[in-house]
Amino acid sequence: MTASELQKLAKKSRGFYVKMKILHKGRQLEKSLFSKYYQWILWFSFTLYFLTSFVITNKPIPLSKTHVFGSKISLSSRVLFDSVKKTSQQSKLKYPATFKDLKIYIYELSSEYNEKWLSNKRCSNHLFASEVAIHRALLNAYDFRTLDPNEADFFFVPVYVSCNFSTVNGFPDIGHARSLLFSAIQLISTNYPFWNHSRGSDHIFVASHDYGACFHAMEDRAIDSGIPEFLKNSIILQTFGVNYRHPCQDVENVLIPPYISPESIGKTLEKAPLTGNRDIMVFFRGKMEVHPKDVSGKFYSKRVRTEIWRRYKGDKRFYLHRNRFTGYQSEIARSVFCLCPLGWAPWSPRLVESVALGCVPVIIADGIRLPFPSAVKWAEISLTVEERDVGKLGQILEHVAATNLSTIQRNLWDPAVKHALLFNDHMQEGDATWQILISLFNKLDGSYTKSRVWNQ
Ligand SMILES: *[C@@H]1O[C@H](CO)[C@@H](O)[C@H](O)[C@H]1NC(C)=O
Ligand SMILES: *[C@@H]1O[C@H](CO)[C@@H](O)[C@H](O)[C@H]1NC(C)=O
Ligand SMILES: *[C@@H]1O[C@H](CO)[C@@H](O)[C@H](O)[C@H]1NC(C)=O
Repeated sequence: MTASELQKLAKKSRGFYVKMKILHKGRQLEKSLFSKYYQWILWFSFTLYFLTSFVITNKPIPLSKTHVFGSKISLSSRVLFDSVKKTSQQSKLKYPATFKDLKIYIYELSSEYNEKWLSNKRCSNHLFASEVAIHRALLNAYDFRTLDPNEADFFFVPVYVSCNFSTVNGFPDIGHARSLLFSAIQLISTNYPFWNHSRGSDHIFVASHDYGACFHAMEDRAIDSGIPEFLKNSIILQTFGVNYRHPCQDVENVLIPPYISPESIGKTLEKAPLTGNRDIMVFFRGKMEVHPKDVSGKFYSKRVRTEIWRRYKGDKRFYLHRNRFTGYQSEIARSVFCLCPLGWAPWSPRLVESVALGCVPVIIADGIRLPFPSAVKWAEISLTVEERDVGKLGQILEHVAATNLSTIQRNLWDPAVKHALLFNDHMQEGDATWQILISLFNKLDGSYTKSRVWNQ
């Protein structure tokens, strides 16, 4: 049997597995199918391993990263080779060979839903712009994108909702998000059979705003509104995530990093390399209210930022600024520790910028859930300080600087970490879009079943 025949067989088998899951409701049966599937995978892996080790020992295949996209064989052999031999530290490849069979269909919607918003240049570059970046990357992801919806595992619905900037305060106005999404769903459910077929459970949306698919920037209002009924069955790619129950993540979801332009990071790093001189010990630039406003009983950043300012504004170790500055990325690149306190929502683009520019993120946002935990070992590359301990920041960071700082920096400066948090127009192996696809693939394989709605 040749490797390509094996590949085909693997594909067929997975198709069969998914179909069986749809047809049968019993958990028991699913379990036994599951173990049968794994037995089969095991057999398949061993066969392919022997086959590929034969190929490798007899005629070496160049195992460079750039070859992976071009050739299915080099991918599968590399994956299996690595997983059996565990040779390289660098390639933490956690996906099975069948990952490459994942297929995504992207709906073509009229420009009112997406492209039209891009007439405002800011739309594809602000912190909520992952809605645009993911769409672009998927359009270019030829290995995973299918033009035939009948063979799709997932359906991507490209609607940009964070692009309408208010002329009054400059913040995005997401008041129209619900109606725009509802209208998109009306369209696709009328013109295609797939939405009705799964009641949307294999359909994917991006909700990159503060509180995900609750579509409001204030938490209490967001919770009151909740996730619209028409999205509740679907999969949401969202920046908002906490490690406790929250109505704005009470939906099948994948946590994604906020968008930071890889070009801007690249430019900054050209001038200030990761391992360069870091003359600032602790950095934060952003909104720190001296007299925080009470907004219907809530305070911005739960007053954490106010506390940082009060405690440390005169402290020489702390480089704190309250005004905006376009060159702030170069300040991050000059810093050892970068504070990432919560704003209204727990997540912050600073987290991605700090990682990408090699400044140890100091996360101050109780209960935050972080993206792609299997690719990014957050505990090894960042520090977490509880909101109530913000007054002890000085001591805590001194202690780390004197003990394990260099270990953290070494972990942080692994290029794979930065890579996993950035979206590229042309998806690259291991980048943020790739991580999303892995997460989706894992849903298909494990907890998530296409038959969810059939079981109810
Ligand atoms: C954009 O936001 C403004 C308010 O900031 C609103 O009046 C307008 O209707 C929105 N545009 C669309 C197309 O939803
Ligand atoms: C899907 O269901 C809706 C509501 O029941 C219906 O109006 C629509 O025509 C259906 N779509 C298709 C393609 O059959
Ligand atoms: C470094 O030390 C701090 C404080 O002692 C600890 O919380 C953290 O987990 C350590 N990190 C690593 C990667 O060792």
